[in-house]
Amino acid sequence: MNDTIKTIKARHSVRSYSEKIIDEKLIMQVLEAANCAPSAHNSQSWRFIVLRGEKKDELARLVSSKAETFPRPASVLLRMSAKSIFSAPAVIAVANTAELISHGIELFKIKKEMGRDFFRTMEIQNSAAAVENLLLAATSLGLSTVWLGILYLMKDEILKFLGEPEGEFMAVIPIGYAARNSSNPSKRPVSEVVRFL
Ligand SMILES: Cc1cc2nc3c(=O)[nH]c(=O)nc-3n(C[C@H](O)[C@H](O)[C@H](O)COP(=O)(O)O)c2cc1C
Repeated sequence: MNDTIKTIKARHSVRSYSEKIIDEKLIMQVLEAANCAPSAHNSQSWRFIVLRGEKKDELARLVSSKAETFPRPASVLLRMSAKSIFSAPAVIAVANTAELISHGIELFKIKKEMGRDFFRTMEIQNSAAAVENLLLAATSLGLSTVWLGILYLMKDEILKFLGEPEGEFMAVIPIGYAARNSSNPSKRPVSEVVRFL
């Protein structure tokens, strides 16, 4: 196995972190890797917002207070997310800019509704590629992460909180050193999910 495949196989979600601070240089290395992701028309329609200290804890409190307004299991998952955000030394929020949506509709001259659906999907895929790069780079540097998608349920509040009102909320990723060792969850054998035609 080469180092890239080793890193891909080693990555797993971690939801509880030690108190050890992350060097800002490591955060920047992880973000450089995220920023190298492929994107439709090389649009790079992502923004990364790094939260630490009081601002990060404020986000955790916002998520925790909003959790109560949802029925289970969303309320439980939101509370768990708030705990992960509290325990991590930093979190990286990812938002789409929506610039590809507006430029794309103009450029392609297709129906507005179809254009919006198409370019929004491209923006989501761009950000997903960037997030995966981020997770893998973090793993390669001995850091742990978890991709918190459940926060999409409160996307508007979070975008406002982040000061990114134009785009679309994608994910929040706590990043830090794992509180304890954990193993990878099992995955289906690849033979079950592949067909050669
Ligand atoms: C789009 C997406 C959304 C996710 N949202 C959450 C989440 O809200 N909370 C959480 O604890 N994990 C979340 N995860 C992590 C998954 O639970 C995790 O990737 C999955 O259980 C497989 O485990 P692994 O990452 O260790 O391989 C999310 C992952 C993805 C790709």
